[in-house]
Amino acid sequence: MEKEAVIEVRDLRKTYYLGQTKVHALRGVDFKIYKGDFVSIVGPSGCGKSTIMHILGLLDTPTSGDIFINGQKASDLSDEELTFLRNKNIGFVFQFFFLSPYLSAVENVQLPMIFSNKSENERKKKAEELLKKTGLSDRMHHLPNQLSGGQRQRVAIARALSNNPTLILADEPTGNLDSETGREILEVFKELWNQGNTVVIVTHDEYVAKKAKRIFRMLDGKIISEVKGEELDRKVIKELDTQNHKKKKGVK
Ligand SMILES: Nc1ncnc2c1ncn2[C@@H]1O[C@H](COP(=O)(O)OP(=O)(O)OP(=O)(O)O)[C@@H](O)[C@H]1O
Ligand SMILES: [Mg+2]
Repeated sequence: MEKEAVIEVRDLRKTYYLGQTKVHALRGVDFKIYKGDFVSIVGPSGCGKSTIMHILGLLDTPTSGDIFINGQKASDLSDEELTFLRNKNIGFVFQFFFLSPYLSAVENVQLPMIFSNKSENERKKKAEELLKKTGLSDRMHHLPNQLSGGQRQRVAIARALSNNPTLILADEPTGNLDSETGREILEVFKELWNQGNTVVIVTHDEYVAKKAKRIFRMLDGKIISEVKGEELDRKVIKELDTQNHKKKKGVK
């Protein structure tokens, strides 16, 4: 049986027009991302990483080519259906956090839930739970400017998780952080992946990139290679666990 692709893109192209000049940001990109995948995308500045993430996040449309979400062609869907898919399935973490400076951590995390049918109390409870999960239980009522970069990024991650997305897209989530804090944030994503979510991370940090299961290397609007990262397939991990378990039992 073929694995279930949560996203598939086919011959994705994106051209931006700046006056008379054309910028070919994507020049034919094809890939499939499976349920429970952990993918990192690397490549030099300007090669099209953010462009592709915005398209995957249904925040932008390609000039040509197709994107399928859970087998459904995005271009066949209405704006309402796209908004619904985006809100229901996708959590987006941006490089510069985009937190509201006037709202506390717990209020920022509640923002995406405003359009859900949760009561105010439920929203607050959910936000508190997510901030605990990302290690911020003692920073709930701080404003963004009272938080460190790493803590702000944790708030942004908690916010991206507020609608229980199954697909988490992060564009340089560690780009703005010192390397140690970046690694802590990476652990948050690994944990989310461990819980069964699909994670796609854009990064320029090779250390972060290697931690994924699959690494896509981009150059000039194309994916030029795909290599295996350090992270093993979850099925393999399970098999190894079972083998170890059996071994231990045998020793006893
Ligand atoms: N709105 C736009 N209008 C015109 N050109 C754009 C626009 N957005 C991006 N571009 C161009 O498209 C190309 C790809 O941009 P993109 O933001 O995807 O790069 P990136 O790989 O994310 O780079 P970085 O690592 O610097 O974030 C770049 O050459 C950029 O200048
Ligand atoms: Mg970018």
